[in-house]
Amino acid sequence: MKRIVILISGRGSNMEAIQQRCVEQGWPATVVAVIANRADAAGLAYAAGQGVATAVVDHRAHASREAFDAELARVIDSHAPDLVVLAGFMRILGPAFVQRFEGRLLNIHPSLLPAFPGLHTHRRALAAGCKAVGATVHFVTPELDHGPIVMQSVVPVRPGDDEHALAARVLATEHVIYPQAVRWFVEGRLRVEDGVVSHAGGASQVYL
Ligand code: GAR
Repeated sequence: MKRIVILISGRGSNMEAIQQRCVEQGWPATVVAVIANRADAAGLAYAAGQGVATAVVDHRAHASREAFDAELARVIDSHAPDLVVLAGFMRILGPAFVQRFEGRLLNIHPSLLPAFPGLHTHRRALAAGCKAVGATVHFVTPELDHGPIVMQSVVPVRPGDDEHALAARVLATEHVIYPQAVRWFVEGRLRVEDGVVSHAGGASQVYL
């Protein structure tokens, strides 16, 4: 069984989707821990209710980014994960942390990367007049919101959409593509070559 550790900062709806599918679909994996950088992250209660170990590593309790990253890595390592999943984890992780987990560290970002890394993605996409937006699951590399792309969802922009409407429609697709990508990882179906991820069985890596 592959061991999955999920990092959250708030609501944790992607974490919930992954944990639920893992159990329902009988993946060869277990979510062994959910770790938050805030004690008030709502998703912690869901995880605890599922019998999943929870922990809080509060970034405000650490004097530097490096100290926070080191403590976070220590707590993660105590669960011996095969995969670390960033699910709405809103802290930038330094290069030492990323290198430690590289190749087994996934993130979801609410844009069609490489467009709109960083914050306020839906607002920026609307301002740019994009006709489609989406979400991206990718392997994490030291550069923020970059790294080999595992799967993307594409969501049309409709007349009258505001950033909240777009965020809600994109989030619904995140709950499809993130569990799918994690399942592929734990089943050993992902290949990465020259920064390009393919599915060993040729499955479509786009959700429309
Ligand atoms: C999701 O939309 C996720 O893509 C985004 O935060 C939200 C978390 O929701 N992540 C980022 O913006 C990371 N740069 P959730 O806590 O309900 O999963």
